[in-house]
Amino acid sequence: MLKNLNIEKLVLVDPYLEYNEYKNSNSGFIYSQLVYDEIYREVIYRMRKYGNKVKIFREKSSDVQIDDKFDFIYLDGNYDYISDDFKKFYPMLNPGGIFGGYAFSGNHRRFVEELLFLVHQYGLVSNFCGDLNEWWIKL
Ligand SMILES: C[S@@+](CC[C@H](N)C(=O)[O-])C[C@H]1O[C@@H](n2cnc3c(N)ncnc32)[C@H](O)[C@@H]1O
Repeated sequence: MLKNLNIEKLVLVDPYLEYNEYKNSNSGFIYSQLVYDEIYREVIYRMRKYGNKVKIFREKSSDVQIDDKFDFIYLDGNYDYISDDFKKFYPMLNPGGIFGGYAFSGNHRRFVEELLFLVHQYGLVSNFCGDLNEWWIKL
């Protein structure tokens, strides 16, 4: 994305943390704390050339404080928190923006149900790509 698009700023949120709730969340990619620390270092290393364009928050989505607006927001964290993440990040979208994420699949039935409920509640139109398990909404 940073290589091919004219991105003004990119904000990344991930605690890179091994915690019990997440282990039981069926969200995949569950690593030891040592591995998360290594991944975090790798992210910092890879993003270094983009300077202030990239802001990295090593925090849970529930804790992070972001006072900004975005054209694109992608959710792919702890799938148990889709409702909280949706309600928190949806208002940060600019008009015409795209809201999306991962985990629209039969392996994440509760997630899909919660997402569809929210989409209906907010009066939105959602799109899904079955093969890739992606969902997105264009405002
Ligand atoms: C399925 S992985 C996806 C990672 C990345 N999007 C990718 O495709 O490589 C889910 C990520 O959510 C992060 N995560 C776990 N709990 C979280 C939370 N409460 N808030 C934000 N991110 C969280 C994990 O550390 C993990 O990196």
